[in-house]
Amino acid sequence: MVQDTYVQDEITQLSNLWLLDPGVTFLNHGSYGACPKAVLEAQQHLRAQLEQEPLRFFVKEWEPLLDEARHKLAAFISADANELVFVPNTTTGVNSILRSLIFDAEDELLTTSHGYNACRNALDFVASRTGVRVVVAEIPFPIDSPQQVVTAVMEQVSPKTRLALLDHVTSDTGLIFPIQQLVQELQAREVDTLVDGAHAPGMIPLNLQEINATYYVGNCHKWLCAPKGSAFLQVRRDKQPAIRPLTISHGANSPRTDKSRFQLEFDWTGTDDPTAYLCVPEAIHYMGGLLPGGWMKLMQRNHQLVFQARQLLCETLRTVPPCPEEMIGSMAVVPMPTALENRNFISVRDELFDRFNIQVQVVSWQKNPRLLVRISAQIYNTIQQYEYLARALMELVK
Ligand SMILES: Cc1ncc(COP(=O)(O)O)c(C=O)c1O
Repeated sequence: MVQDTYVQDEITQLSNLWLLDPGVTFLNHGSYGACPKAVLEAQQHLRAQLEQEPLRFFVKEWEPLLDEARHKLAAFISADANELVFVPNTTTGVNSILRSLIFDAEDELLTTSHGYNACRNALDFVASRTGVRVVVAEIPFPIDSPQQVVTAVMEQVSPKTRLALLDHVTSDTGLIFPIQQLVQELQAREVDTLVDGAHAPGMIPLNLQEINATYYVGNCHKWLCAPKGSAFLQVRRDKQPAIRPLTISHGANSPRTDKSRFQLEFDWTGTDDPTAYLCVPEAIHYMGGLLPGGWMKLMQRNHQLVFQARQLLCETLRTVPPCPEEMIGSMAVVPMPTALENRNFISVRDELFDRFNIQVQVVSWQKNPRLLVRISAQIYNTIQQYEYLARALMELVK
């Protein structure tokens, strides 16, 4: 099955701004993001600047650039720059918090059944070392309202609950959790919150000061389209002294007083390529300049596209949307038809790629519906690509 030529032309125009293979129908921005050529070129310039004079770069130039990147990111996500550090990815940010905190064996750590596997592993690792109990709130799926998330989480809070690890946008199910309400209600019960916001920056408008989580981690290399290896960690000021990076380096005994120990430690964790962090302002600027309405328009456009695509897939596959529109951003899942339900998710994903050149996430879910297809929508995607996916899925059902 080949795509119509006119459709291919339309897709090629915008996807030309990326390095994406024009032969692939790429519907999985969510897994690893994709960085536009212009941002990668900016990164190349910075790398050249670094390699031309490594000493000058690391002694004089790097830190002002890092601080500038921090301030531009803080403005974009409405955060206090003093509470913000860069980390290479969300997994590192989540581990940094969990492995810094000291728990008692009687404590409970709360999370949900929609948590991301890597972060859940970090939680289980900490539990295995300290004896602390991990409590999992079962979030219904399919789901009718954000309130069901709040109810399910709050039902599991006990006087022993110390910390809740909560996704802002879930990976397998693509749900936006009502994070501000969750943080408020948990704080009222004196439970600290660690928000896994891997997908949120650039997918939905973010105001970290309003959310007011104890800890918030987000990726810049997904929906902000910054280079790989760029993410941030926000830690509320009163909690900063207890939070240490996974790698202890010069910051631990630096005599400097112009920055917090928290930033001195996280800003330098050994020699590395810092250019992904330094390109975050370029990614914010570039992506925000693609549509006349800037970032708001881009996020709206991506949401509308994924919503429309979800409808058409559900209609074609005769399945039911598993959550209300308000709970999706620019990713959505669609239950697979019963005829495919018992197939292994990897074989379905591979067949879509091998036979149709479609790159899309196929999810094996814990309960019915057992098999989900997760679509992403970024500016380089068009509705015709999801129509093509729908036709390909119908071929699989045959
Ligand atoms: C909800 C969630 N948390 C964490 C991660 C991990 O992100 P990273 O691989 O950048 O650490 C992902 C990645 O997709 C995710 O979806």
